[in-house]
Amino acid sequence: MDDLRDTYLGRIAEARDEGELETLRVEAVGKKGEVSLKMRELGKMSPEERQVMGPKLNALKDEINAALAAKKEALADAALDERLRTEWLDVTLPSRPRRTGTIHPISQVTEEVTAIFADMGFAVAEGPQIDTDWYNFDALNIPSHHPARAEMDTFYMHRAEGDNRPPHVLRTHTSPVQIRHMEKFGAPCRIIAPGRVYRADYDQTHTPMFHQVEGLALDKDISMANLKWVLEAFFAAFFEVDGIKTRFRASHFPFTEPSAEVDIQCSWEGGQLKIGEGDGWLEVLGSGMVHPKVLEAGGVDPNAWQGFAFGMGIDRIAMLKYGIPDLRAFFDSDLRWLRHYGFSALSVPTLHGGLSG
Ligand code: DAH
Repeated sequence: MDDLRDTYLGRIAEARDEGELETLRVEAVGKKGEVSLKMRELGKMSPEERQVMGPKLNALKDEINAALAAKKEALADAALDERLRTEWLDVTLPSRPRRTGTIHPISQVTEEVTAIFADMGFAVAEGPQIDTDWYNFDALNIPSHHPARAEMDTFYMHRAEGDNRPPHVLRTHTSPVQIRHMEKFGAPCRIIAPGRVYRADYDQTHTPMFHQVEGLALDKDISMANLKWVLEAFFAAFFEVDGIKTRFRASHFPFTEPSAEVDIQCSWEGGQLKIGEGDGWLEVLGSGMVHPKVLEAGGVDPNAWQGFAFGMGIDRIAMLKYGIPDLRAFFDSDLRWLRHYGFSALSVPTLHGGLSG
């Protein structure tokens, strides 16, 4: 019996896992285990022998069971220690940077434009993207027979039969915001109106939705000279090129008289576009002195007030400044494109902090 005891207690002490312990349990105290077989032999013994051997065997069985239980607990503790050791984590380490979103170049450029004009005293005005054809056309001196209407590729809103409300369109330019602003606040004024506009057109340089920024400045004695200075100051700040040259070409818009299209100086060397140098020109906006009929439509007396207006393509100047070749990519929501051309959420453009970081 002592041998049995020594063998099993020794093997239990050396067991390396729960599987080995279970094998030992079956071998020693299982139904057909060595200790159990010995107990079965009690029946063949004399009553005297049985009285000695019975308690001894029971005690041995208890001792082995206790050793099994103790070893099982020790193995579990060791397993936990090992797990804690391998899963150790230093919570004082800095966190891993997560993939973050980026600010879309259009949003960034809109902020840049706003910062520059704000510095010149222009407030931001807004108007609806679905507007009546009166605001989009008539009030801007574009009557219904006017060819400019047909040229605009306008999206007209569906009208149910018997609907007598004025026809609505997706605004084709930001110019209707001029009228809405004059109606509300009159003159003098100095505003820009950035926002979405829509035209049924699609190729490398046209998308059915794009962005413009409108400008309007009204006062007693505002002239084309003020317009030229404001635009040149804007381009110098926006493209970060001092003394950038602009060219004013006589043009025609129904809502301005006189009208001018404005080009900025650029070079095209080796297929590379560079702004502010060379002897090439690139058209970036339309402008002029606000037509008296437009002032009237906005409820402003054309005999007392005058001023300039302009309309510029935001997508266009964003492409030029950041070297983005295809307009359509702006609106594809391609994550690789957005990560490449997008801006950090923390690089908010300001004049004092630097426009493009
Ligand atoms: N609305 C014009 C367009 O979409 C741009 C424009 C030209 C706006 C001259 C103006 C302006 O305010 O004076 O093509």
